[in-house]
Amino acid sequence: KNIRWDTVQAEKDGYKHFMLKEIFEQPRTIEDTFRGRIYPDEGRVYIEEVKLKLKEEYIKNISNIYIVACGTSYHSGLVSKFLFESFAKIPTEVDIASEFRYRDVILDEKTLVVVISQSGETADTLAALRLAKSKGCQTLAVCNVVGSSISREAMYVIYTHCGPEIGVASTKAFTGQVTALYVLALDWAYKREALTIKELKKYLKELWEIPLKINEFLKNAESVHDIAKVFANKRDFLYLGRHINYPVALEGALKIKEISYIHAEGYAAGEMKHGPIALIDKSMPIVAIVIKGRIYEKIISNIEEAKARGGTIIAVADQSDKEIGNKSNYVIYVPETDEFVSPLMTVIPLQLLAYYISLILGCDVDQPRNLAKSVTVE
Ligand code: AGP
Repeated sequence: KNIRWDTVQAEKDGYKHFMLKEIFEQPRTIEDTFRGRIYPDEGRVYIEEVKLKLKEEYIKNISNIYIVACGTSYHSGLVSKFLFESFAKIPTEVDIASEFRYRDVILDEKTLVVVISQSGETADTLAALRLAKSKGCQTLAVCNVVGSSISREAMYVIYTHCGPEIGVASTKAFTGQVTALYVLALDWAYKREALTIKELKKYLKELWEIPLKINEFLKNAESVHDIAKVFANKRDFLYLGRHINYPVALEGALKIKEISYIHAEGYAAGEMKHGPIALIDKSMPIVAIVIKGRIYEKIISNIEEAKARGGTIIAVADQSDKEIGNKSNYVIYVPETDEFVSPLMTVIPLQLLAYYISLILGCDVDQPRNLAKSVTVE
């Protein structure tokens, strides 16, 4: 019988679950997504699909970007907002597709609408794409499935080269999307003269080094398993992040919700004192992303506030951080990265934490209850 290649490829290769395999595939899928598209030593970016069609003139004149997606793809869109604004200086809005469709959103032909979808079949995202086209916007899709509805109907498409993602909880698609959008934002930043060649080379090199750093981290995945054993019986989690790692906090909370059915909330760390800090007690662990960068001191004070109120802190921090140990109860150390590329690293421990807690609770990791891999209905 003719076996479809993606079925063959979708083997577990000895991993207990597709999700675990897909978490461990990320060094390769990130590299596959940027291979042939970035040349750090030359300071060059070449995205074949977009290059052929998207005129440089248009790139220079984009007035604003609207990114529209659902679920994890929405979170990768939120990460890319920081990249389009900080690198390319393009005003960028990010919206949930099911909200975007029903708002009287202001769009015109100078607005670029970017839709992000792993499956390329999500009903709300497809409807948002069609709405954008009806308003005369240029549309660009970031997809993982060649020939999917969204990839066919968008004017331009960038494929993430992750291979079939079988686990319902998206992992490698998220890092593939962030990789593709990071490369695109850098390319456009340089074309719009918002970045120097030196900066371009620096940021390309940061991305180039990520797969190795993730590989390094994955060697001690068991340390995350040990933390999962301590917290698997908790009823609520709070995930805190700031700046480009605020969307990663949202993503970490989504992962644990959807595969272990534990209530979790991602929150902007700076917002805690405006209410949610009242929630803190010893029964609610707080996962905080505390990597070095412009907001490091700020988030340190946020976790000190939480700890002072009896919160238990699990910090995701740079392995060079000597202070964090006495400011949190548990630390998951990750290799140091530039803040703009850090989401590709900081999301990995959060994916593993959700996976191991789900495993300990005996949940169906690859096929969580009530969920479908692609939400093709509204
Ligand atoms: C993420 O883990 C979920 N499986 C879900 O939120 C998913 O990201 C969302 O349904 C969007 O799917 P898409 O990327 O295929 O459009």
